[in-house]
Amino acid sequence: AAQQAAGGGTPAAGDTIVLGEVGSLTGAQATFGVSTRNGVDLAIKEANEAGGVKGKKLKVIVYDDQGKPEEAAQAVTRLITQDKVVLILGEVASSNSLAMAEKAQAAGVPMITPSSTNPSVTQKGEYIFRVCFIDPFQGFVMAKFARENLKADRVAILQDNKSAYSIGLTDVFTAKFKEMGGAIVTTQSYSQGDTNFRAQLTAIKKVKPQAIYVPGYYNDVGIVARQAREMGVTVPLMGGDGWDSEKLFELAGNSLDGSYFSNHYSPSNPEPKVQKFISDYKAAYGGVPDALAALGYDAAKVAIAALERAKDLSGPAVRDAIAQTKDFPGVAGTITLDQDRNAVKSAAILQIENGTTKFVTTINP
Ligand code: PHE
Repeated sequence: AAQQAAGGGTPAAGDTIVLGEVGSLTGAQATFGVSTRNGVDLAIKEANEAGGVKGKKLKVIVYDDQGKPEEAAQAVTRLITQDKVVLILGEVASSNSLAMAEKAQAAGVPMITPSSTNPSVTQKGEYIFRVCFIDPFQGFVMAKFARENLKADRVAILQDNKSAYSIGLTDVFTAKFKEMGGAIVTTQSYSQGDTNFRAQLTAIKKVKPQAIYVPGYYNDVGIVARQAREMGVTVPLMGGDGWDSEKLFELAGNSLDGSYFSNHYSPSNPEPKVQKFISDYKAAYGGVPDALAALGYDAAKVAIAALERAKDLSGPAVRDAIAQTKDFPGVAGTITLDQDRNAVKSAAILQIENGTTKFVTTINP
């Protein structure tokens, strides 16, 4: 349930505006935090080079939560009470954003998650925003793809029962796939960090699905894919944005060739603003930016534009300015925030081939 905000954030003192960021810079999902950090950093550098905001330079204080919800919550408390930030960016994993949102909402400090897709994150209250789509849409997109493109009637699910994100996507996919006339033949569970998925894969193999939905994070999915192929399970795997990491292919080898996942952005998008972002990013950090980097960049840009527009830098004023975000040209799609503080955007479906992703189609809301 939404909580009442206790008060406003603290206006910036002196010639700097201080923002906060929380992410998994180390730990099992480290690429999430590192990519997001680079995206935010690029946006902040660009803003400072262009003269800053309200005549002040921007500075970001960053804390590593190691991918743990308790650490993420503590980092938010530190950013608010000790660092007196005007706004907080983060997290990626929905379970971590949920823990952060609780604290930010209670203190009346605006928070923007670049990439958490579970609906309950922004339901924490009117100070919590996101610049990405939500899982009821993402789950629908993959259910539709499974029915219409893969022509699947029978799908199995392997979910991470420790992740709000994975549980949410499982629920939506199940409901939508059934509505479209398909059957979920079994739903199996693991806990993030597990390394042996053979018991669940044996149960899945037995009921002969035509595809398997694995809405988890890359570090687990890479191992799932390898073990599935070793056990002779050859049907395509399907997943969500949580698959997006260079590391997925290091773990999976070629095991994911012919599999599909939904995502926020495709680096093969020819739009000039996307291609410019990719080349600037490559020059600064090396490598092609993933969806986390693109959404981190977009979240920081939306924050910067809101700070510029806000009548002052108090929590309520910054909140109101973020809420007005409309037709903002992000590199991962145009951002308009709805009354629930979510962005309504299209999703891309990507196919994996030879350890890399290929754009298949875009699905609009
Ligand atoms: N959407 C995921 C979550 O809410 C996080 C994620 C986003 C992971 C984008 C990879 C890419 O937990």
